[in-house]
Amino acid sequence: MSLQTTLPYFARPDLLESVTRLLLSGANVTLFAPRRHGKTSFVRHDLLPALHEAGWFAARVDLWRNRDNPELGLVEGLESVAYATSSRSPLTRPLSLASLRATLKVPGVDIEGSWSPASGPTQHPEASLENRLANALHVIAERGNHSLIVLDEFQALAKKSSDNFVASFRTALQDVEGRLSVFFTGSSRDGLMRLFNRSKAPLFRSAESVTLPNLGDNFVDSRADYLNAVASIKVDRDALKRLFPRLCYTPLFLNEITRILLVKGDADLDGAVFEWHRSKYENEYAEWFSSLADVESAVIIWLAISGQKSVYTEEAREFVRKLMQEDAAPPTSRVQTAIRRLTAAQVLEPTGVNGSYEIADQGLQIVISNAVNEDLIRPSRDSLIQFPNSRGPVG
Ligand SMILES: Nc1ncnc2c1ncn2[C@@H]1O[C@H](COP(=O)(O)OP(=O)(O)OP(=O)(O)O)[C@@H](O)[C@H]1O
Ligand SMILES: [Mg+2]
Repeated sequence: MSLQTTLPYFARPDLLESVTRLLLSGANVTLFAPRRHGKTSFVRHDLLPALHEAGWFAARVDLWRNRDNPELGLVEGLESVAYATSSRSPLTRPLSLASLRATLKVPGVDIEGSWSPASGPTQHPEASLENRLANALHVIAERGNHSLIVLDEFQALAKKSSDNFVASFRTALQDVEGRLSVFFTGSSRDGLMRLFNRSKAPLFRSAESVTLPNLGDNFVDSRADYLNAVASIKVDRDALKRLFPRLCYTPLFLNEITRILLVKGDADLDGAVFEWHRSKYENEYAEWFSSLADVESAVIIWLAISGQKSVYTEEAREFVRKLMQEDAAPPTSRVQTAIRRLTAAQVLEPTGVNGSYEIADQGLQIVISNAVNEDLIRPSRDSLIQFPNSRGPVG
C-alpha cells in the first residue's frame, strides 16, 4: 500500500443541491472555505458532473495554475477551455498519435465530458490580455445550452495591481450574462471580500455567497469503513470522531492519518496521530521555520496557542518576550515588521480588525499547538520543535 493511495470521495449531496438551485435561478455563486477543506474536490466530484448531466457545458480553471501571473493563468486557462476539442472515445475514433496528444492534461483546467482542453500557443497572439479574455468567454458561452465556469482560488486577483484587469473581466462577464454562470471559490475570506467590495459591479455584488459546511461524523465513519473494508483494520470510531475537530475538520488531514493506519496495518490511532504530527512538521514546516526570525516564530506560536488574534496587546508582547528569552519586549516596530513579512508571505491573514491576524494554514496551527501541548518546543537554530525518538501517549 503506497502513501499515494487515493481514498474514496465522500459526496456532498446537500451542498450540491443548494448550489445547483442557486445556479439554476441564474445567480453566480461564491464558495469560501479554508485551504484543504475540499472546494476543488466538491467542484470536480459533485458539481461539474451534475451540471454536465443536466446538459450544461461545465469547466474549471484554477487561477493558481500560474502563481506569479494569475491574470495570464486565467486567460490561458479560459482559452484552453474555449478552444477545447471534442474527444470521443478511442472505440469510435481511430487511435493515433494526434488523438493521444489531445488527451494530455492541461494543468489547472478541467472540462467535464468528452472534451480535450486545448494546449499550445494562443490563437490571438496579437490581442491584449483583456481582449483574449472577452473572446474566450464569448466562445465558452456558446457551448451547450448553458455554460458554467468555475474559477478556483479567485482571490488570486485580489491584489491592487489587478484592479483594471478585474474591471474588464466584470464587463466581459456582463456581456455573456444569462448564457454563462460563474462559480467562484476562494480560501481567503479577506481576499475575496476585498476583491468583491472593491469591484462594485452588479455581477459581483449579486453573487450568492455559500460557506462550505464542515464534514461530520458520517465522513469520519466512511474512513473507518474503508479501513475495515480494504485492510480489516478496526479503528476506534469514537476516538476518530473526537480527533476530527482537533484537525479543524480538515478532510485532507483525516485522509492522511487514515493512510498512515493503512500503511502501518494496525489500528493504533495514537501512534498514527503522532506520526502524522511528526511527518507534517518535518516534511512541510521544519526547514521554513528555521529560516524565520525569532520574533516571527514567536508571533506565530502566540497566534497558534493563545486563542487570541491580536498581536499588539501587553499580554502578546510579554509572551513574545519570554519565548525570545529577552529582558525587554521587542519594540512594536519590530513586531510590525515581522507581521508585514508574514502577511506578505500569506502565512498570516488579517481578520479585518485592526492589529488582528489568523494563521492562514490550519496545518501549521494544528502542528504548533500540539507541539506546545506536548512540550516539544525547544527553540534552536536547527528545528523549533523536537520530537522524541519514542512516542508517549498522545492526548
Ligand atoms: N468530500 C471529500 N471526501 C474525501 N476526501 C476529501 C473530500 N474533500 C476533500 N478531501 C480530501 O482533502 C484533499 C484536499 O481537498 P481539496 O483540494 O478539494 O481542498 P481545497 O479546499 O480545494 O484546498 P485548496 O484551497 O488548498 O485548493 C483532497 O485531496 C482529499 O484528499
Ligand atoms: Mg482547491
